[in-house]
This record gives sequence, structure tokens and C-alpha cells, in this order.
Amino acid sequence: MKVFRTAEEIQSYSLNKRKEGKTIGFVPTMGYLHEGHQRLIKEARTHDDIVILSIFVNPLQFGPSEDFERYPRDEERDLKIAEMENVDAVFIPTVNDMYPRSLSITMKVTERTDVLCGKSREGHFDGVATVLTKLFHLILPHRAYFGLKDAQQVAVVDALIEDLNFPVELIPVPTVREGDGLARSSRNVYLSEEERQEAKYLYQALEHGRSLVKNGEKDRNVIINEVRNFINEHTHGKIDYVDLLTYPELQPLTHINQRVILAIAVFFNKARLIDNVIFEQNGELSYE
Ligand code: PAJ
Repeated sequence: MKVFRTAEEIQSYSLNKRKEGKTIGFVPTMGYLHEGHQRLIKEARTHDDIVILSIFVNPLQFGPSEDFERYPRDEERDLKIAEMENVDAVFIPTVNDMYPRSLSITMKVTERTDVLCGKSREGHFDGVATVLTKLFHLILPHRAYFGLKDAQQVAVVDALIEDLNFPVELIPVPTVREGDGLARSSRNVYLSEEERQEAKYLYQALEHGRSLVKNGEKDRNVIINEVRNFINEHTHGKIDYVDLLTYPELQPLTHINQRVILAIAVFFNKARLIDNVIFEQNGELSYE
């Protein structure tokens, strides 16, 4: 497995692979790898000749009061996991490698961001779009793999690729969960033991909402209120949002008559956890 730390090295590696006629599958991450990331790598491994993983905690997508400094990092462990998953090359730049001087040009995401996480994390998706634009230019992938755990990110990347004509195919990958339903996340390490016990109810709350739809409920407000109550009854977490929107456009709706996302964000002491389910108007999951 190759490990590259500079932009020049990774770009010339990718250009050579392209010249050899190989397809490149790209899995962008911020490291501290877990089974969610591994699922993306496995997916890339089945579709593409060459799998490239990036590990970069991107300062541009963290707000001033967010966890950039304390975001968990473990390069040695990540490289072992990447090797185990037969990754061909890892790109692991420093902040200075990626941003040697202040940027004269950055991305601005103008739709799909005034709701859900975009509402409380100002500039977050601009930072994601900026780093992904750079990474797409460096890694030159045929396909890029993203987890539906971050469904709004998938919606933004979908628009990025389409609006700016990146020759990249977006492959959305279903959320990987713990045995009790908690979505795997690098941020789960922030939870206390008691909070970890309660965190399983987030997925149950979403499934409760989806079961209402399966049983014929169509009214957005009824479903949202039920999900809010469920979270409040079962956890000490503070709800940031519970929302139900069209997917992937993320437009409001009052009655469910198409594919939707039911999404939540809940603050615990040191962690803000997000989760979602995406389903059709009959309540059947859209991705499995
Ligand atoms: P990170 O949070 O490390 O996530 C990297 C990728 O793994 C994302 O596509 C994310 O959706 C996916 N992922 C995380 N948990 C998952 C789970 N439980 N199941 C399935 N997929 C999961 O998302 C980012 O990094 C960054 O914003 C990035 C795209 C790298 C840009 O900086």
C-alpha cells in the first residue's frame, strides 16, 4: 500500500493509473476509521481497479466552537485498517500541504444547506465542497463513495458533481450501525457510558417515525412530533432538529407523496449525534 503526503505525489500516481487504463475509486474520510468507512472501502474495492483513501481532518468545515482540535486521530491504526482492506493508496496530507496559503477561491453551496445540519453549522458545507473540489482534482476518481449517514453531505456532493460537471460518479452507501442500531461514527467516542446506552434510541425514534408512515400516516407534523416525543422520553439529549424533507432536494413538504428523509441531530454532553432514514411514500427504505 502506498502512502502519499503531498498533492504532487498523489496526483501523479492517479494520472499514471489513468494512463494505464485503470478505474479509480475514491473514499474521502477524516480518519479514525470504523466499520462505516470500511464499508465504503469494500464497496469501492468491488467496483474499481484502484482504491484511494484520503485521511484529512479539514479545518474549513469546522465552526469556531466545534471540535477541530479534539477530533479523534490515530494515523497508525488507520493505516493498518486501510492495509487490511486492500486499499491501494492512502493520501494523508497535513493542513499545510492542503492549504499552504490562504485560499483566494472557495466554494459556496447555495441550495440544500438552509436546513438540517447546514442551518446550525454555518459554512460547514462550503468547507466540505471546497476540500472535495481539491481532492477530486488531485485524485481524479471515476467513482467517489459517500455514506448516507451524512445524507445532507450526499445531497450536496450530488449537486456539486452535477452543477460543476465533475466527471465523477457518486456512489451513496447505506449507514452501518452497531448491534443496537446506533450509527457508527468517529464521534461516538465522546459519549459517556450512560449516554451510549441512550444513544440507541435515536435510531429507534427514526424507525418509530417510519413505522407510522408504513401504517398510513402522511402528515409531516404528526410524524415529527412523535419522533421528538420519543427522543425526549428515552434520552437526556437536547434535540437540535427533527425534520422531514424531500430527498435529495431537501425541500419542505406537508404530506408525504415522494421519497423523503427523516433526519435528527441531538446534543449530548460532548457529542452531537446525527442520524436519518430515507424512505419512499409507502415507508419502504430507499437504500439497503
Ligand atoms: P468522515 O466523517 O470521516 O466520513 C467519511 C465518509 O464515511 C463519509 O462519506 C461518511 O458519510 C461515511 N460514514 C461515516 N459513518 C458512516 C456509517 N456509519 N455508515 C456509512 N458511512 C459512514 O464525511 C467526512 O468525513 C468529511 O466531511 C469528508 C467527506 C471527508 C470531507 O472532509
